[in-house]
Amino acid sequence: MTEFDTRLVHGKSQKDNNTGAVNVPVYNSSTYIYPSVDAKVKYDYARSGNPTRSYLEQQVAELENGYQGFAFSSGSAAIHAVLAIFKPGDHLIIGKEIYGGTFRIINEFFKRWNLEFTAVDTQNPAEIEAAVKSNTKAIYFESFTNPLLHVTSVKKTAEVAKKYHLLTIVDNTFLSPYLQRPLNLGADIVVHSATKYLSGHSDVIAGIAVAKDPEIAKRIYFNQNAIGSTLSPEDSNLVRRGIQTLAVRMDRHLSNAQKIVEFLQSRAEIAKIYYPGIAGSRDHEIAAKEVDGFGGIVSFELKYGLDSTQFVEGTKLIQLAVSLGAVESLIELPYKMTHAELSPEEQLKAGITHQLVRLSVGIEDPKDLIADLANSLNQLSRK
Ligand SMILES: Cc1ncc(COP(=O)(O)O)c(C=O)c1O
Repeated sequence: MTEFDTRLVHGKSQKDNNTGAVNVPVYNSSTYIYPSVDAKVKYDYARSGNPTRSYLEQQVAELENGYQGFAFSSGSAAIHAVLAIFKPGDHLIIGKEIYGGTFRIINEFFKRWNLEFTAVDTQNPAEIEAAVKSNTKAIYFESFTNPLLHVTSVKKTAEVAKKYHLLTIVDNTFLSPYLQRPLNLGADIVVHSATKYLSGHSDVIAGIAVAKDPEIAKRIYFNQNAIGSTLSPEDSNLVRRGIQTLAVRMDRHLSNAQKIVEFLQSRAEIAKIYYPGIAGSRDHEIAAKEVDGFGGIVSFELKYGLDSTQFVEGTKLIQLAVSLGAVESLIELPYKMTHAELSPEEQLKAGITHQLVRLSVGIEDPKDLIADLANSLNQLSRK
């Protein structure tokens, strides 16, 4: 088998068109011809299957080392389709710092289905184990959390899951298969907001789920086809194309993030930096054993009294926007933007202070990014 970076570029070989095109065509067809009434056709209707989407689904399944992949119209749709494989009365253990939108699906949707959930600190395997009940069916978590980059061991969590015959489901959005392959570490299902690193250019909303086991894959496929939140052929093509440059983009995200961390460490205005690449923390210790790089997200706190709103509004090159994982750097204030839905008490409990800034480090020249951050820091006034 070829190396991972080569597989990113070449994907699965495709010889299904008549032109010799090196890329899979964008099949803009909602329906397909039956040669005869009784024919067993591979594609009959595009919600059930589309060759461009199938290509992407197999491309990601192969990179994640899974049995089958599924592409959805958003990461949220992928998460919905995966959680919908469970049935009323089932209990799931979830990470207490998972993405807010996932909490929303759980609290506003699946609880109405009578799925039960217990949120725990997944960094602590004993806490996971203590939450297991007779009806527990799965553990769902993000190995790097948002925005504080707390790290959970996929391996240790999957060990607990196996002991109790539970499925391990990992949202791998923050790392991508380039930096971590959860199925190789014992997980059963991986989900992605492909809106982020997989597509990488802030031009598509997309989601992916990959299952290791054919039986689980069948259940996810049922939901994908029945609910119908599939990814369009055009958007499938955008994600497919993004994946081809994942390695080079990620390498630059990583080296830029490291340089920015070093810059922030040199500045008196910064009270704390959250980045698992910094040695000496529990997060670093866990991550170092299971990832091939510490990601492109750097969160940090400005010293008390400095105006965080002025700071994030003061960068010129680095855009003030939610989302992450794209070629351009994005900055935001979690307490007012991505995590504004939490009450002030919940924010405080989650460690999301008014001084906390999240930076999605892009692939620009690091000198420009550092100059932009320095300029905004230099302008800062005290509140
Ligand atoms: C970790 C994580 N999972 C899932 C999602 C949801 O993905 P989407 O916005 O593509 O629906 C997000 C979105 O920010 C995310 O950060």
